[in-house]
Amino acid sequence: MQEKLQKETMERKKTIRDYETVALSEDGKAVVILDQTKLPGTIEQLRLETAEQIREAIYLLKVRGAPAIGVAAALGAYVLAKQSRAVKYDDFAGEFARNKEFLNSARPTAVNLSWALNRMESVVKNNADKSVEEIQELLRREALGIREEDIRVCRAIGEYGLSLVKPHDGILTHCNAGRLATIRYGTATAPIYLGQEKGYAFRVFADETRPLLQGARLTACELHSAGVDVTLICDNMSGAVMRNGWVDAVFVGCDRVAANGDTANKIGTSVVAAVAKQYQVPFYVCAPTSTIDMDTPDGDGIRIEQRPEDEVTQMWYRERMAPEGIRVYNPAFDVTDHTLISGIVTEYGVARPPYSSSLRKICRAGKQI
Ligand code: MRU
Repeated sequence: MQEKLQKETMERKKTIRDYETVALSEDGKAVVILDQTKLPGTIEQLRLETAEQIREAIYLLKVRGAPAIGVAAALGAYVLAKQSRAVKYDDFAGEFARNKEFLNSARPTAVNLSWALNRMESVVKNNADKSVEEIQELLRREALGIREEDIRVCRAIGEYGLSLVKPHDGILTHCNAGRLATIRYGTATAPIYLGQEKGYAFRVFADETRPLLQGARLTACELHSAGVDVTLICDNMSGAVMRNGWVDAVFVGCDRVAANGDTANKIGTSVVAAVAKQYQVPFYVCAPTSTIDMDTPDGDGIRIEQRPEDEVTQMWYRERMAPEGIRVYNPAFDVTDHTLISGIVTEYGVARPPYSSSLRKICRAGKQI
């Protein structure tokens, strides 16, 4: 009895860092995700096997963050393709296209979703001469490749981001562009994690991020559990902490960067950017090149997801906090004008204004590697 008790106390309590954000199950038949709607209170993994389950998990933000939904969709497309009973290529490709469209309809703003699904579809289209089994295997490799790539890409963003700050700097971030939004380092949090490896001792401010509280529930949780010095603030406090001189740089993630540098990210990001400009704090957007959409000329062309009103009126509250029947506007993202952005940190370097040429150069560099 005593021995058992001792063993239990010696066992380290598991934290979210011990779980993958999104992965392929060991038997290869399901996408396994950490259910982010339950965090930080409950750590629960979900096994997704059907198209409906995968799409719903993305729509309900059980898996969320632009890179993570791209990976979930890629793995999902493979899992569904593997279930196919088609023998002829045309039947298989038709089924694949239908599943792709269905998954792609889950959320409109993050370009990573269609980017990952298009990559998967290219595998099907480019291998029409192969058997269904061979294409299924190629799809498995592509999906796992997209997942592995995310780790390398985020680390590279972290290295470039780290070159923009100094030890002991104050860093403010909005929403969750962290490990939970990706596979390992996050994008906006990658410089923070890499800095921690080097003993930089940053002081981080995390906006709580109304209405879905990704900052409070996810960023605060993952940074705190990693031992980062993090302070949670309400969204309307970023002006106060910047005026106090506590913030040396803002790092945020993004869901889509237009060709001119206008950037869609979680609602409230553009307000932080405007406040940062007021206090001359550099405002950096961390963007894997998979999030840059050179086909969309500017922010006006980015479709902004609208979400249900109960996210604003009652979700997270013990009781409804707004009058019945009140009109609600609940856009999930906003566009930050490129003029407010000091730099866009990608895995190939930091793009600086004018973005119409620097982003083109960076995307071209990526294609050559
Ligand atoms: O609605 P969400 O939680 O998916 O929104 C996420 C964000 O806005 C992130 O900042 C963005 O996807 C970048 S994640 C690296």
